[in-house]
Amino acid sequence: MNNKQMQVKYSCPSNIALVKYWGKKEGGVQLPANASISWSLSDLFAETSMIATQDEGPKLIFTFKGEPKPSFEPKIIAFLERISQYSDFVKSHNFIIDTVNNFPHGTGIASSAAGFGALAMCIADLEGKYENGSAEFFERASFFARLGSGSACRSVYGKPSVWGEHDDVEKSSDLFAVPFEKEIHATLSNWKDCVLIVDDGEKKVSSTEGHALLDNHPYAAARFANAQKNISKITSYLQSGDVTNFIALVESEALQLHSMMMSSIPYFTLIRPNTLAILEEIWAFREETNLPLAFTLDAGANVHLLYDKQYETEISNFIDNKLLVYCKNGLYLCSNIGGTPQKLA
Ligand code: PMV
Repeated sequence: MNNKQMQVKYSCPSNIALVKYWGKKEGGVQLPANASISWSLSDLFAETSMIATQDEGPKLIFTFKGEPKPSFEPKIIAFLERISQYSDFVKSHNFIIDTVNNFPHGTGIASSAAGFGALAMCIADLEGKYENGSAEFFERASFFARLGSGSACRSVYGKPSVWGEHDDVEKSSDLFAVPFEKEIHATLSNWKDCVLIVDDGEKKVSSTEGHALLDNHPYAAARFANAQKNISKITSYLQSGDVTNFIALVESEALQLHSMMMSSIPYFTLIRPNTLAILEEIWAFREETNLPLAFTLDAGANVHLLYDKQYETEISNFIDNKLLVYCKNGLYLCSNIGGTPQKLA
């Protein structure tokens, strides 16, 4: 008798944090030391297909673009094992998974948020515990995604997503992200993100190592408290449309993330000379033009240029004329903000 087989395929966007998650709470698995908020990036996504076969599990056959990728397997097996503690479905199935990113490999863009997001959507769908599309379904997918990569739990919603308990955000939780349901002001509801590729190499500090740097960090408590305050501020700016303060806060958050890395032991500088050159160009351009654009950074050298889409032509010229020289191989990737996971099959 053939064991029961089910199949599904999802795409899931990447996301970029505006207030950063950097540091975990003690105890638990992947619980954030502070709340974070992100925008999803609809045009930078992973597509993942999953075949689940009923059997004692979870076992895995994994391919990346149809080719075996043994280096990815331990992370995904660990992910499935973690989830199996919460899901009888995962415990009782084996998985054949193929995944692909729509952005080129080796761009230094973190793919784990999109990748684990897509996997989590597939599992929540096949598990069938909650009606697809219900709030509980997305919470469940977000909960699963968190167990793969913390920031991935913010990738399952099209709206700005908040992860981590916060008094100002209803139903917020350390266990999963929630969509920010309040209406976003028109001046901040139609932005874009262009990722300027400064360094396309492997991450110098893994996320796990990076978060651990906060464990005995002299400024950790102040940083976590400041991030909580920044969530209150940014959620108010998003509603009131206070672009000037929004930009200042987002840039400060990016620099705080890197400051924490520079002031830990061991310490790291992940920004490169070209990163700084880009930031200076952005500040000069803003001074000159007054246009609403901001930068943010992930735990790496690449710069996310965030801007109001109505100024696309001006920003595109700015990138071509001033910023391209700082990009590795002249590469940058642009995405609209927003975008939800899609069921593809
Ligand atoms: O999800 P992780 O464990 O890879 O952590 C990523 C953290 C940052 O990307 C640096 C910030 C964030 O909030 O996304």
